[in-house]
Formats: sequence, structure tokens, C-alpha cells
Amino acid sequence: MQFEQELKQKTAEVEVLLDRALPAEEGFQKTIFSAMRYSLMAGGKRLRPLLIRETYRFFGGEDMSVVEPFMAAIEMIHTYSLIHDDLPALDNDDYRRGRLTSHKVFGEAMGILAGDALLNYAFETAAQAIDAAADEAVLHRVVKALQTLSRKPGIYGMIGGQVVDVELTGKEIPEDTLRFIFELKTGALIEASMMIGAQLAGADDSQVALIEKAAHHIGMAFQIQDDILDVTSSMEVLGKPVHSDEKNEKTTWVTLYGMEQARADVDMYSREAMDILVGMEGVKAPKETFLYAFIEWLIHRQY
Ligand code: IPE
Ligand code: IPE
Ligand code: MG
Ligand code: MG
Ligand code: MG
Repeated sequence: MQFEQELKQKTAEVEVLLDRALPAEEGFQKTIFSAMRYSLMAGGKRLRPLLIRETYRFFGGEDMSVVEPFMAAIEMIHTYSLIHDDLPALDNDDYRRGRLTSHKVFGEAMGILAGDALLNYAFETAAQAIDAAADEAVLHRVVKALQTLSRKPGIYGMIGGQVVDVELTGKEIPEDTLRFIFELKTGALIEASMMIGAQLAGADDSQVALIEKAAHHIGMAFQIQDDILDVTSSMEVLGKPVHSDEKNEKTTWVTLYGMEQARADVDMYSREAMDILVGMEGVKAPKETFLYAFIEWLIHRQY
């Protein structure tokens, strides 16, 4: 099958499991269920659940029952981070994934609560993997994955990066600080995804550490490309407003290094990640995997 076709099929499979993971829209608190569904089911690349699944397969994982709760959970956490990132107090953006942002449709209070709800429900969902574990050994892997899922989105991960990003908005940011922001605000969830896939498949600690490093590079490449697309793309293609960074006077990889260097760095970071995959011991034909092709595809992503 052609890569693009395979990606489309795998993405569609993620849509199905997200749909199934969401609560029914009923009861007195119905509005929160609608707001959760509105943002979660608005589309998006589904990068992070795909990374969990494909890293799991990269390490030989087959049984999907313990993986799917984590795939849904990471996309819920990512979606919550987007809802809050778009709030008037943060980036103040009106469109996301081709639709009006949560706070525009449901109001600011409900937008905040929809983010909170997705974050909490993510853990409720991931915890279903505890019941799906077939034996003690798998249960141990699930516990390790839950540890990763709780740490990486938090103060030492995504939130930590968002804090520094927000605090330094409108200010000039030195190189090492911008790198810190990228590593945390974007890198952390990508690291979480690939580490969880590896941990659930039973990868050993040294393999998980290598995957974390590869994911770090992918995270850097991904955020640099996000900064590039904010300048070069369009609302129609991206589904979110372009020139958001300029509007907010953000220091970006493009403002700091220029467009040409930024493009070269996306390529450089991605290739470093691919090299790590190729060098991974105990993995059969890493270059033939979907994971490898996926990382290569991300270099040239247009949305
Ligand atoms: C956007 O993430 C925010 C960043 C971390 C750059 P994505 O580009 O993965 O957004 P969706 O999920 O496809 O909407
Ligand atoms: C995203 O950074 C990081 C998050 C944790 C959401 P951006 O602010 O650049 O993301 P977009 O461009 O709004 O998607
Ligand atoms: Mg932001
Ligand atoms: Mg933003
Ligand atoms: Mg951006």
C-alpha cells in the first residue's frame, strides 16, 4: 500500500477509537460532553496516538487492547492543551482544526472546563488498560506507561514549556531558552507517545531512553515546522490562523534563525531521529517500518 493511503487508513482507525472513548451527550452536565466532543472530533493529524501505536509495533507489539486506551488518552491531553493554548489569555486564536475554537462556541468558562475535562478523562481512559492487562507482566508495563503519561504533560513537560512561552511572549528569547520551550511545550507529548508505545511493547530501559531521544528530535523538528507553517501556510490548509506568532510577538525558530536555517533544522533533527531508529538493537528491519516512513513524511508536512 502507498504510504499516504496507509496513513489515511490508520488515521481513520484513530477517529473510530476516539469516538468510542467519548461519553454520551446526556445528563445535566451535557454541555461538557458536547464541548469535549466538539474539539476532540474536529480532525487533526492524530500524530501522537499514531506514534504510540507505531512505536508499539516497532518493538513487536501486537495486542491492541492495552494500547488503545493510551492512544485515546494522549489525544485528549493534546486536545486539552490546544483548547487552553487558544484561550484569550494565552494565544487568543479563533480557529482550530478548521472550526471556531472552543471558547468562541461555548464561551470562555466552558472552554476552560472542556480542557480540564479532557485532561481528567484522559487518565480515566488510560486507566482502562489496567483491566485490559492479560497478566502481571503486562500490568507492570501499563504502570510504567501511566507514569510516563502523568509526568510528560506536566510541570516538567508540556505545562512547563507553556509557562515559559507565555511568560516571555513579546520579549526577545535567547537560543537556549527557546530550545527549552520547544523541548517542553511540544517535545514532551511526543516523547510521552513514543515512550508509552515502547514501554507497552516491553522495550527495556535502554531502548526506552533511546526512543525518548529520537522523540526529542522529532519534537524539535515538529515545532520548528509549526513555526515555519505559521509564516508560509494558510488558514485553509492549516485549519488554524496563520501569523498567530507575529500577532503575539513571539520569538520563533524563524525569527531567530531565518527561514532557510529553520528548514535545514527540520531536516537535520528528523534525520537524527531516523538514525536512532536505524541503530536500534533487537529491532527487525527498522527502515521498513511505518514509524520510519512516518518520521520522514513529517519533514515535508504541509499541515
Ligand atoms: C499543534 O499540534 C500544536 C503543536 C504542538 C505544534 P498539531 O500540529 O499536532 O495539531 P493537530 O493535532 O494536528 O490539530
Ligand atoms: C503549541 O505551541 C504548544 C502547545 C502545547 C499547544 P503553539 O502555540 O505554536 O501551537 P499552535 O501553533 O497554536 O498550534
Ligand atoms: Mg502557544
Ligand atoms: Mg498557539
Ligand atoms: Mg504555532
